[in-house]
Amino acid sequence: MDKIVVNGGKRLEGRVDISGAKNAALPLICASILTPGQIIFDNVPRLGDIRTILKLLAIMGADIDMNWPRIKINTAELNNPIAPYELVKTMRAAILVLGPLVARFGYAKVSLPGGCAIGARPIDLHLKGLKAMGAQVNISKGYVEVNCTRLQGSVIDFPQPTVGGTENLMMAATLAAGTTVINNAAREPEIIDLANLLDKMGAKIRGAGTSRIIINGCENLQPADHSVIPDRIETGTFMVAAAITRGDVLIRKANPLHVSRIVEIMKNIGISVETGKDFIKINSSGTIHPLDVITEAYPGFPTDMQAQFMVLALKARGKSFITESIFENRYMHVPELLRMGADIQIEKRNAIINGPCELEGTTVMATDLRASASLILAGLIAKGTTEILRVYHLDRGYEKIENKLSSLGADITRKPSEIY
Ligand code: EPZ
Repeated sequence: MDKIVVNGGKRLEGRVDISGAKNAALPLICASILTPGQIIFDNVPRLGDIRTILKLLAIMGADIDMNWPRIKINTAELNNPIAPYELVKTMRAAILVLGPLVARFGYAKVSLPGGCAIGARPIDLHLKGLKAMGAQVNISKGYVEVNCTRLQGSVIDFPQPTVGGTENLMMAATLAAGTTVINNAAREPEIIDLANLLDKMGAKIRGAGTSRIIINGCENLQPADHSVIPDRIETGTFMVAAAITRGDVLIRKANPLHVSRIVEIMKNIGISVETGKDFIKINSSGTIHPLDVITEAYPGFPTDMQAQFMVLALKARGKSFITESIFENRYMHVPELLRMGADIQIEKRNAIINGPCELEGTTVMATDLRASASLILAGLIAKGTTEILRVYHLDRGYEKIENKLSSLGADITRKPSEIY
């Protein structure tokens, strides 16, 4: 396994290009199941999770051609609608094959994803929606089996927005008989990107990006090519990296509209943020004021930026407050930050961060994707050397982050790890 070694104290400056969005590419790739024929995806990020979902489709019988960042997928020969435990356990978003498989084949058997470091991550709302559309759902021996000759349009009322649930049911509904309405749908840009591909494939979808999505089912869909939107969480992560190192960084191939809440908060705490059509420029030289944020469904402050903003708060002059309202266990980065000298108190879902505080480099352990990003950020501003172990977590969601950071002047390298 690898580790990442950071010698802190370097100011970041220069320009960095954002890769395609992991959380858009995953459902987009699953949507290719809906129609036999070849789909060409561009701007696909070269990530662990993307390789996993492509491996799953190949096991099912799809033909995959990887020429990063261009991926060609042909599911004409796909004939094995089963997603095994070994794969789903490593990447729970594999559950997004469920809706497309049932829509196209009338059957799917997918391992229950189980929980992960940040929470139980249930899929009850996905299954409730499929049942409402007429499917038989049977759970046994850790797998969910779904049967339905043809799904029927239905009204689905989510008690709370669910990104994966909205994506799974939107895909399923494209081939259902009749009209499906999803109320309290998730509004993330990744939902809009998926709806844009489905529209190109011939689906009839209205309202993607709002909390009410209407899908008129049709008999079949056609292949269509698509380019993945930029990754808004990678964008936010580099915005924080520039801010905490008092840097001057131009972030390109980004979409500022997808990070408007992050831009708003950073401006409010004294960071200079300039935006254009496809770039964001961060210049951070003055005092960083304390922040007070609650993670919310889009367009609120994203939970996937909570760990990174905690490091930003360590540089602020005063007491900051962060509340994690989406996942029940998303503070796994805190014990590691405390070992570096951070002053953070956790009370249930609330974190109180006293800044500014000087961090000291040491060996720390990554536990989940965004926690590992926050440890890298902490290493950038710590005194001395920080070693981050178990960086396979990081590689699931960030493409060559150490190369991108070193091109901005960070002293960061990847090395084989003797222990983990
Ligand atoms: C997506 O996960 C993202 N993953 C997550 O990003 C992100 O943190 C999350 O949305 C929230 O924005 C992908 O897009 C691949 P949810 P998802 O369903 O779809 C509860 C990252 O770091 N819920 O919107 O699994 C759930 O427990 C990852 O890139 C149910 O109760 O999230 C949570 O509290 C981490 N029942 C809340 O809803 C369900 O059936 C939101 O979860 C489904 C969800």
